[in-house]
Amino acid sequence: MTNFERMFRKEIVEQPAYNAGIAIDRFQEVYGVPCLAKLDSNENPYGPSPRAIEAARGSTSNLASYPDAGTSTLRAAIAGKFKMEADQIVTGNGSEDLIALIYTTVLSRGEQVVTTCPSFGPHETGAQSCGADAQKIQYKNDWSFPIDGVLEALSKRPKVLMFASPNNPAGPAISEQDFDRIVSALTPETLFVFDEAYVDFIDPSHRFDAVAKLGKTELPWISLRTFSKAYGLAGARIGYAICSYCSISGSLMKARSPFAVNGAAIAAAEAALADTEHLEMAVAKIVSERARLRHALSTRGYTVAPSQTNFLFFDCGENGDAFAERLRRKGVLTKGWFEEPYLGWVRVSIGTVEQNDAFLMILDSIT
Ligand SMILES: Cc1ncc(COP(=O)(O)O)c(C=O)c1O
Repeated sequence: MTNFERMFRKEIVEQPAYNAGIAIDRFQEVYGVPCLAKLDSNENPYGPSPRAIEAARGSTSNLASYPDAGTSTLRAAIAGKFKMEADQIVTGNGSEDLIALIYTTVLSRGEQVVTTCPSFGPHETGAQSCGADAQKIQYKNDWSFPIDGVLEALSKRPKVLMFASPNNPAGPAISEQDFDRIVSALTPETLFVFDEAYVDFIDPSHRFDAVAKLGKTELPWISLRTFSKAYGLAGARIGYAICSYCSISGSLMKARSPFAVNGAAIAAAEAALADTEHLEMAVAKIVSERARLRHALSTRGYTVAPSQTNFLFFDCGENGDAFAERLRRKGVLTKGWFEEPYLGWVRVSIGTVEQNDAFLMILDSIT
């Protein structure tokens, strides 16, 4: 540790850097080759609704003014969609911002968080940043949800249970039966944060309404959503939390950065939410390509995790980061996973037909 690192909390200094995807401009600068397919950040290749782009453009006439700190009209629209009160909704600068907000407002040093392995990095690191312990329950080899381990961990009354379904980076969604078992086992001492970033990509046969189910309980819970994936607004940075009680959302509202969500993001999100046709078009194309790409990877001999998302996770048979680096040098961006025991796995987002073909062509050229 240098002297200056001593100024910072040990939990932060000791953390690994976030394994972020690379922006296209930066990629071209660093690698000196054109980007054929950016498939490293689970973005939506069809982008947002044209109405969202127009709304964001329109908002620029207001750049001199602060946005509405309460994001009131957007929260009302979201609340309408879920039949909740606007006061139960909290918006953030992406749902990543909300993960950090929830942890910093809820956790004290030494408290326990339960999540899964593999997991979306901030579910673990966000807890550790607060000095909490993150217990990770590993998925089974067949990629079924580790229900027994989670129930066992819940019996010790952790402060927070946070996991994503569908899971990032692997892709499977929890079954309704396992979800019900978790809800039955939860007690009011544990805040359940159910991260539904990829909910729109779930096949109808696997779908259930978690918010409606949780709404029938008296438990403390939060469902996390984002406009970054199915709505194609990753660059706008906007997500939201649906909270079981106004006492939960009210505390988050007090602690959040008041202008965390900018005016263009608010305008774009409102318009995107209203354009269900665009959403359905993008999701249908992605889901169809997911099946094609999965088949293409399987026929090449790769083991691919079942996916209810806009990405696939496959065992590349060597170090995942080295493999992804070979793809990157030829213009295809994917993500090698850095979490034990998945160091041999690579996550590839579902792109357009052309991008997926480019990925397969480059994959064949490096193997
Ligand atoms: C499971 C999960 N939750 C939350 C996020 C954060 O999304 P954003 O901050 O863009 O809303 C991501 C992004 O990849 C994710 O995979």
